[in-house]
Amino acid sequence: MKQIVVAAFLGTMLLLGAAYGDQALALGAANAPKPDGEKIYKVYCITCHGMKGDMGASGAANLSASTLSLEGRIKVIAEGRNTMTGFKALLTPDKIKAVAKYTLELKKKS
Ligand code: HEC
Repeated sequence: MKQIVVAAFLGTMLLLGAAYGDQALALGAANAPKPDGEKIYKVYCITCHGMKGDMGASGAANLSASTLSLEGRIKVIAEGRNTMTGFKALLTPDKIKAVAKYTLELKKKS
């Protein structure tokens, strides 16, 4: 009888462990959401590039007509170029990549 109780106890602990383990994973994922390129664009880029990327304030390049690759955009956004200041001090590499991807979508929209 004692053995059965011990076995049942261990079984319950295993089940609980599995359940809480999954929950911890789910929580971890919720705490680190994918950066939203569109949101970042609206906060940091719209003042010069505009909603559609073609506003051109302060001589900003037309993003909807840009032929730069994703890598090229990431570099300009991180390091800056001429009058555009770089964003690597403000945005993490993940966020820079997300916003660079969003600027590629501006091309499709126009
Ligand atoms: C202060 C105004 C300003 C802000 C804010 C700004 N840019 Fe720019 N951006 C420019 C200017 C000006 C250029 C052209 C630079 C040049 O002449 O070399 C440019 C160029 C670019 C280019 C290169 C396009 C090409 O085809 O060469 C990309 C990509 C870009 N910006 C993305 C962004 C993103 C993404 C943000 C927000 C994180 C941003 N910019 C914020 C002014 C700005």
